Amino acid sequence: MKILVINGPNLNMLGTREPEIYGSTTLNDINQELVEYSKTISNEIEFEFFQSNHEGDIVDKIQISRDFDGLIINPAAYTHTSVAIADAIKSINIKAVEVHLSNPNAREEFRKTSYTSTSCVGVVAGFGKNSYKLALLGLYNKINE
Ligand code: DQA
Repeated sequence: MKILVINGPNLNMLGTREPEIYGSTTLNDINQELVEYSKTISNEIEFEFFQSNHEGDIVDKIQISRDFDGLIINPAAYTHTSVAIADAIKSINIKAVEVHLSNPNAREEFRKTSYTSTSCVGVVAGFGKNSYKLALLGLYNKINE
């Protein structure tokens, strides 16, 4: 099973970015922990990790990712603005789960709207780095349904 993990803008700053909200783990460590965790689910999960601060680059990456079985995406701030990313996910007809470290619904009003989740089978938010692991478990089961 091939899973693509996309992280959007400013998530390359994890570790030092607002640690009281996002924790002190770096994105690289979150990715490595996800790889380790995946082995408790199946030994046949392969990952590609992609991070970009640019909306168009994320759209381009999604468009060329038809051969993946599933997508875990933290669109970060683009969650709340990007029809383009939502449309890109729909365009390749892939099972996707939206992930957030924090719980956007418990934060500012503008974070309560998610455009991108309209293209996803589920959303996991508020569990810090474990949100990615919970998303993988849910996605794995959805793909095998
Ligand atoms: C975030 C939540 C977004 O509102 C914010 O813009 C981010 C991170 C999260 O993982 O909690 O950059 O997606």
